[in-house]
Amino acid sequence: MEKKKVLLLFGTRPEAIKMAPLIPEFQKFARIIDLKICITAQHRHMLDQVLRFFDIEVDFDLNLMKPGQNLHSLTSDIIQETKKIYEIFQPDLVLVHGDTTTSMAAALSAFYLGIPVAHVEAGLRTFNKKSPFPEELNRNITGRIADYHFAPTIESKNNLLDERIDPSKIEITGNTVIDALLLGLNKIKDQKPDSIKLLIDTLPFNRPFILVTGHRRENFGEGFVSICKALHTISQSLDADIIYPVHLNPNVQDPVFKYLSNNPAIFLIEPQPYEAFIWLMNQSKLIITDSGGVQEEAPSLGKPVLVMRDTTERPEAVSAGTVILVGTDYEKIVTETISLFQNEKKYEQMSKLSNPYGDGNASKRIVNFIVNELN
Ligand code: UD1
Ligand code: UDP
Repeated sequence: MEKKKVLLLFGTRPEAIKMAPLIPEFQKFARIIDLKICITAQHRHMLDQVLRFFDIEVDFDLNLMKPGQNLHSLTSDIIQETKKIYEIFQPDLVLVHGDTTTSMAAALSAFYLGIPVAHVEAGLRTFNKKSPFPEELNRNITGRIADYHFAPTIESKNNLLDERIDPSKIEITGNTVIDALLLGLNKIKDQKPDSIKLLIDTLPFNRPFILVTGHRRENFGEGFVSICKALHTISQSLDADIIYPVHLNPNVQDPVFKYLSNNPAIFLIEPQPYEAFIWLMNQSKLIITDSGGVQEEAPSLGKPVLVMRDTTERPEAVSAGTVILVGTDYEKIVTETISLFQNEKKYEQMSKLSNPYGDGNASKRIVNFIVNELN
C-alpha cells in the first residue's frame, strides 16, 4: 500500500508550539504516513526558538518573514510559495493551525489545488470580525475551507455546528497547547536549560513579579500607550517587579521601549524560548497578556490572567474563573492588578487549577482521526 502524504504547515511561534506535539504522534505511523513539515517562516527568530526546543526538522522552509511586513504582501507570498510546495510534494492532506495569516492563506492555496485541509484548533469565535484582527476572520475562512475540524472544546464544536459543518468531520480533541505544555514541563523538570539559567543570572527574583506579553494588532497605537501607562503606575504602586518579554513586532517594540525603559521595576527582555517562558509563567504571581495561547496555558498552571482584550474566543477560562477581560483600559488594568495583590481571597479563587483546554492527549486524538480517515 502506498503511504499517504501529510503536510504539516505553520509559520509563527504559537502555531509551532501547538503543532509540535503532533509530530511524534505521526511518527508512530511512519509505516503508513509520509509526514513532511513546511514552514512559511512568517516569524523567523521566534519560530526558530520553538523548532530548536522541540527538535523539529523542517522539510520545506519558505523563509517569508520581512521586517515590518504587511498583511497584503504576506498573504500573497504565502499563497504563491505554498503552491510550489504542494505541487512538488502532492500531499493527500494539509494540516494548518488556528487563525494566522499563514493558516488562512495556506488553506486557501491548498483549496485552489483541490487538496483536502484539516484545521487544528477549529471553531473558536468572538463573532466580531475586527477583534482579534485579522485573526477572527482568518479562522472563519480557514473553517469554511477545511474538510476536517479539530475543535478543542464542546463550545468550539457547537460554533461549527451552528455554521452547518458536517458533524462527522468535527472531532473534539482538547487543545494541543496542553500537550506542548506537559511535554515542555517534563523536558525541563530534571535539568534547567541554559535559557532559564540565564534568566536566573540576570534578573533579581527577590520579590513577586507580574509577567506581561502583548502583540495584538487592534491594540497598536493608543491601546499600547494605555497599557504602558498602566504598567508604569502598577510598578510604582506595588512591591513587585514586572517582567516583560517584548514581541519583535516594531509596532510593539517602539511604544514599549519608549515608555517603559529606565524603570528599575520593569525588566524588558527578549522574547523567550518556550522552555524559559513556561518557567517564567510558573514563577510569576500574575500574568497580564493579550495572547491567545497564554490564556490557555495559565489555567493549567493555576495562574490568574488579566487579558488585555475586549473580546475573547476562549470563553472557557473566563467561565472557569482564571481569566478576567480588562481590555486596554488604564483604570481597569491598574485596579484589577492592585486588587489581586491586595485581596487574598480573590487571588486564591483565580489561582485554582483547572483544565478547560484538555488533558494532554489532543495530538493523539487528532492523529488517530486522520489515520482512520486517510486509510
Ligand atoms: C502574528 C499573527 C498573530 C499571532 C502572532 C503570534 C497574523 C496576521 N498575525 O502576529 O495572529 O497571534 O503572530 O506572535 O498572522 N518579527 C521579527 N521576528 C520574528 C517575528 C516577528 O522580527 O521572529 C517582526 C517582523 O518585523 C515582522 C513583524 O514582527 O514583520 C510582524 O510579524 P507578523 O507575523 O506579521 O505579525 P505578528 O504581530 O507577529
Ligand atoms: N511564548 C514564548 N515566549 C515568549 C512569550 C510567549 O514561548 O516570550 C509562548 C507562550 O507560552 C504561548 C505562545 O508563545 O504558548 C503564545 O504566543 P503569542 O502570544 O505570540 O501568540 P498567540 O497565542 O496570541 O497567537
